[in-house]
Amino acid sequence: MIIAVDGPTASGKGTIARGLGKHYGLPVLDTGLLYRAVGLQARKMGLDPDDPVEAARATGFPDALLAEPELRSVACGALASRVSVHKRVRAALLERQRQFAAQPGGAILDGRDIGTVIVPDADVKLFVTASLDARAARRHAESTSRGESLTLEHVIDDLARRDERDRNRAEAPLVQAADAELIDNTDMSAAQALEAAIAIVDARMARHAAKGA
Ligand code: DC
Repeated sequence: MIIAVDGPTASGKGTIARGLGKHYGLPVLDTGLLYRAVGLQARKMGLDPDDPVEAARATGFPDALLAEPELRSVACGALASRVSVHKRVRAALLERQRQFAAQPGGAILDGRDIGTVIVPDADVKLFVTASLDARAARRHAESTSRGESLTLEHVIDDLARRDERDRNRAEAPLVQAADAELIDNTDMSAAQALEAAIAIVDARMARHAAKGA
């Protein structure tokens, strides 16, 4: 079973993906980390994240970079959003994501274009979202607990800018796939959002099974 979980920054999609992974015993790939690693590698190499050729050179980052806590920072998220607009960067990361999805038994991937570009034939597609204010409040609490000292206004501004860039870019923009189920968790706890996701996956799989029978 392949589950695609897409949605904007700080929507709770990662928490849902990890919860589903535990529930169904499936491996989970946070594809945002790959773009964050490209952004961080570009910075380390002194490359321009807005230049397609220079940013593409950073896609050869060492795997060890994926374990760096700094990848989770708000600054790396912004860098990731910038490098992710480039076709060359997306193409370089495509195969790695498809291979992860194709492993025996299935997988869960979370990102922006999983259900639309990476695995368009995924068994279940979820589009997870929440209001800008709710997402910013969560991201602000998270960054404060990591020791970053950003104001809530800065986080709101950063998220709004990333939403705008992720939704309006030419390559694989953030958009809900036609066959994706929407989970708006603005007024839900993390546990309620996961419960809603499990209910959707179970219903989809029951429908698939009935069709195949
Ligand atoms: O999910 P995240 O906040 O870690 O993602 C960081 C940035 O990476 C996001 O602003 C856009 C980009 N991204 C993408 O373009 N496609 C993906 N599948 C995942 C992330």
